[in-house]
Amino acid sequence: MTEEKIFMHAPGDRPASKSREQKPIRATELWFRESEKTDIADHRVHATVRAGDRSWGTDDAKGGYRAGGFAVIKIQKEDGTFDRDEYPVVVTDVRAMPCADVTEDDLVGALSEEQRTGTLREKLERLYGTSFEPQSKISIVRFEYVDQLKAIDDLIRARITKRATLPPDNNEEVSAFESYTMPLIGENYPAKTAAMWNAAYRAFDMPSRNVMMVADPDDTENILRVLRGVDAYAGGGMGVGFKDEGVRFVDDVDPLAKAMGAINFVVKNAEGKLTGYNTDGIGYRQSVREKLSEHGEALRDARVVLLGAGGTANAIAFALMEDGAQITIVNRTIEKAQKLADRLTDYFGDGASVEVVGEDDIAQAAHHARVIINTTTKGASGSFENYMPLAPAGTDVEENNAASENILSSLDPKTLVSDIVLRQDTTPFLAAARQKGFLVLDGVPMVINQAIEAFWILYGASLVSRGITKDAVGDVMRAAATRKTP
Ligand SMILES: NC(=O)c1ccc[n+]([C@@H]2O[C@H](COP(=O)([O-])OP(=O)(O)OC[C@H]3O[C@@H](n4cnc5c(N)ncnc54)[C@H](OP(=O)(O)O)[C@@H]3O)[C@@H](O)[C@H]2O)c1
Repeated sequence: MTEEKIFMHAPGDRPASKSREQKPIRATELWFRESEKTDIADHRVHATVRAGDRSWGTDDAKGGYRAGGFAVIKIQKEDGTFDRDEYPVVVTDVRAMPCADVTEDDLVGALSEEQRTGTLREKLERLYGTSFEPQSKISIVRFEYVDQLKAIDDLIRARITKRATLPPDNNEEVSAFESYTMPLIGENYPAKTAAMWNAAYRAFDMPSRNVMMVADPDDTENILRVLRGVDAYAGGGMGVGFKDEGVRFVDDVDPLAKAMGAINFVVKNAEGKLTGYNTDGIGYRQSVREKLSEHGEALRDARVVLLGAGGTANAIAFALMEDGAQITIVNRTIEKAQKLADRLTDYFGDGASVEVVGEDDIAQAAHHARVIINTTTKGASGSFENYMPLAPAGTDVEENNAASENILSSLDPKTLVSDIVLRQDTTPFLAAARQKGFLVLDGVPMVINQAIEAFWILYGASLVSRGITKDAVGDVMRAAATRKTP
């Protein structure tokens, strides 16, 4: 019996309802008969037949199989219960077609040697356990066994990851070097990560390369499981979507990253154990330290107004507080700001100086600030790109800009005004601050510094033994990040 026939009766196996965004329903199980267990256990079968259209995005209530998506083979026994052995696989291809269109080629990999006898119709019946009408829609699902994926090439072939095409210097062969760092990103974008890391690998004659890969953050747990077994994988960044997920699925988390609740970088040790770190906050902190030190100042006891309480604000708040900053969190959703404040107090103890205010009280909070940092998406490309973060974005743009400019004009001229939002041009907030003569800090040094910190976590000890300093690494990565791409 196959999955389709007992689907309606299996407890807890009801068709999932579509989410609010109408995401396609994802099928994640492939059921086989007990008689097929040996072929599955020996990995002799690489394809199967399912009734109906089970391709990705199907209307079938049981959902569709996504190429590159993970699934698990379950063996159903004669009495309807399941064998305890399960076999994780990656679906590599799904083709739906009328039964009459199926050819012998379509069934390659679906039957073991002994089963490959008789007519096509007999083979199909043998595969599914019942007969199909010529017009019946069926799907041929192809898959690879997860425990056979051992190289980065395998991940690409199985469509788990795709090499990102937009980042410069992201073209290295994935089998030419003994070791790779592999940042995971959810969307292809022209990140400088590969350019920075590869420049350092070349400059210090290291047998490694960095290749950014696009993958689905929903697969974080399974991707990390596979990467544990990929010898050439040394670690790598975790982009948006992977950060919060990743922290749950690595084997160990650096205490600061644990408190932040997110990781942006993974290191794999010789036993395949993964440890998560977060260098976003400490990378940003380094850029503030550098700016303040130009004026003979430091973060200790400096009042920092942090606009936003999202993922990056969390990382920044923890890192700045580690340096002794006093933090005022301003956020549209006050409960989120309060949660961050509570976590800071839990981690740093009652001595932590942290307060929370709503968006309407920014003026008062900003008045006493040494540093103001925007970590909200106000000013980021998209529907809020013309808004400034010193006033709510619920009003019209002119009102928001006028209120923000007003607050800026009332600030101590020594205030350091910072915006981590990255854009091709400058954000309206930084443009206005610059125009008013404030000391400003944009998001670029944060990108560079978080990469330097991550590189150093991974290679610092071995580089020191070769007489190479962190500053030398920083110089190479900084030059690569600011180099214009042809
Ligand atoms: N320079 C760098 O290296 C770097 C690194 C990471 C991120 N970034 C940038 O930092 C920004 C934040 O990233 P994230 O990952 O922290 O995002 P996130 O977790 O989604 O947080 C977004 C923040 O923006 C606020 N926000 C969103 N829309 C708003 C609106 N209409 N009015 C008021 N507040 C609004 C949210 O407030 P609520 O809590 O009320 O929703 C929240 O505080 C992004 O633009 C990202 O590109 C830069």
